[in-house]
Amino acid sequence: MDSRPSPVNNLKPDNSTRCRLHVSTGALRGNVAAIRRALPPKTRLLSVVKANAYGLGADHAVRTLLEEGLDFFGVANVTEAMEVRALAPQADILLLSATLPEEDPRLPEHSLLPTISSLDEIERYRDISRATGRPLRAHAKIDTGMGRLGVWHEEAQALLARIEETPEIQLEGLYTHFYDSGDDREGTETQRRRFLAATAGIRETRPGLLLHADNSGGIFSFPGTPFNAARCGLLQYGIAPGRLCGGPLWGSLRPVVSVSARLTLVKNLPAGAGISYSHSHRLTRPSRVGVLSVGYADGIPRSCSNRGRVLVRGQECQMIGNVTMDEIMVDVTDVPEAAAGDEAILIGRQGEKVITMESFSERAGTIPWESLCFFSRRMPRVWGE
Ligand SMILES: Cc1ncc(COP(=O)(O)O)c(C=O)c1O
Repeated sequence: MDSRPSPVNNLKPDNSTRCRLHVSTGALRGNVAAIRRALPPKTRLLSVVKANAYGLGADHAVRTLLEEGLDFFGVANVTEAMEVRALAPQADILLLSATLPEEDPRLPEHSLLPTISSLDEIERYRDISRATGRPLRAHAKIDTGMGRLGVWHEEAQALLARIEETPEIQLEGLYTHFYDSGDDREGTETQRRRFLAATAGIRETRPGLLLHADNSGGIFSFPGTPFNAARCGLLQYGIAPGRLCGGPLWGSLRPVVSVSARLTLVKNLPAGAGISYSHSHRLTRPSRVGVLSVGYADGIPRSCSNRGRVLVRGQECQMIGNVTMDEIMVDVTDVPEAAAGDEAILIGRQGEKVITMESFSERAGTIPWESLCFFSRRMPRVWGE
């Protein structure tokens, strides 16, 4: 029997005739292959599949990525790590967020690699290792300017020295995280310099360590990465992490995600009629108004109200009035053939026109990472070629 999950991952009964988020396996495979080609040979690619693979479905994503030969995954927490472990028994799984003390026993139990940022964590992981009688594999993180996890780069020497003195911890990698690699080249260069300086000593004595700094933006702006690993999330989905995107790699990537919804009603309304809650839009001409079967309960942000666009019969139409829980109104006056049943595109291509995830997010006043995570349980994820 085929052990693959159903291509439609949603509530029952199937809601995917109303709206759907389509994930192209072929585009994902092609993008991962292109990213690997763009990295220096032997660079290890860690696929970031946290938050249910950015909301797309970790089960499908991890299976596809395993088939592409990936063997290294990054997740946020122990719960996500256990889900990935069930799918990928042999892979390395790095916890990108800190663990809570009560989660520590799960690390050896599921062969997970924690991230070390502090002396306290060294002690906790040493104790866990002693309890199991086996060294605990881990990466250490250096804060070069993100101001989140990791030891501040000027204090890294002390932390690394303590790890070196702790045989219970098997250090396998060192990393840092960029705060704006998609847009701020100078800031990213400063972070790289700090990372290289903070790791200079240990890189000499431990040449086998994995060193990683580049995320999607970093992979773009610095194709000649001096590191031997990179962590990639957004770029796998063919979505730009910022305006520094360009060049041959960007040209070879394809969007993986598209989002569509059906028109369930098209009706005429007179000039002056108010649209949706609060009447934030009033018609200035006799209009044809289409009602889309999607709303904020599916993950279309309310901030799209009066700002978002959709494609209907290959033409761009404006969202009018407030986005509601289950419906969004669109002005289809200039698309006279528009009819109930039509499929409208919120993200993706229809005919010659395209609405990208980047432009959808910008109109919603957010970033693609958040847009992806915002799609709710009611929005079916449909995986196909
Ligand atoms: C520590 C860390 N590394 C890598 C990534 C992947 O970033 P991106 O999606 O920009 O590739 C993230 C995502 O937020 C992260 O938190």
